[in-house]
Amino acid sequence: MTSLYDEIQEVRARYPEGSRSAVLPALRLAQERDGWLSRAALEEVADALEVTPAFCYSIATFYDMLHLEPVGRVTIDVCTNLPCALCGAQEVVEAFESELGIRAGETTPDGGITLRAVECLGGCGYATVVAVNDRYRQHARAETVPEILGELDG
Ligand code: FES
Repeated sequence: MTSLYDEIQEVRARYPEGSRSAVLPALRLAQERDGWLSRAALEEVADALEVTPAFCYSIATFYDMLHLEPVGRVTIDVCTNLPCALCGAQEVVEAFESELGIRAGETTPDGGITLRAVECLGGCGYATVVAVNDRYRQHARAETVPEILGELDG
């Protein structure tokens, strides 16, 4: 099994500009391994790239898809920026909250699902956009929330 250090070195070699450019894919690798980015993981990535943990942390705080706290096995991210807000994003968030019995920013007690309201997911023309793990759902509406959750059972 390849170590995180070795995987990061492989990624690092693809970036002519060197270590700083490779920080995003390196953080992604660490998150794929652990499910989130702990302080120890940030230090591991920093060591592998020969940058400071603070640099890794500053990058990780900028991107919604990088998790600095443990999350559920499934993450549901609802975009609530303006184009999605105009198409009912808040109602979508509230429908998820109602179905799951948690508030946005929380994880179900069984650790199964984390619900988050997030910044633009880059699909503004398809509002409201919901990301279930890495899979995007377009034109989500409050009425389609049960269907989205039903697909998780399958
Ligand atoms: Fe929702 Fe861009 S505003 S995807």
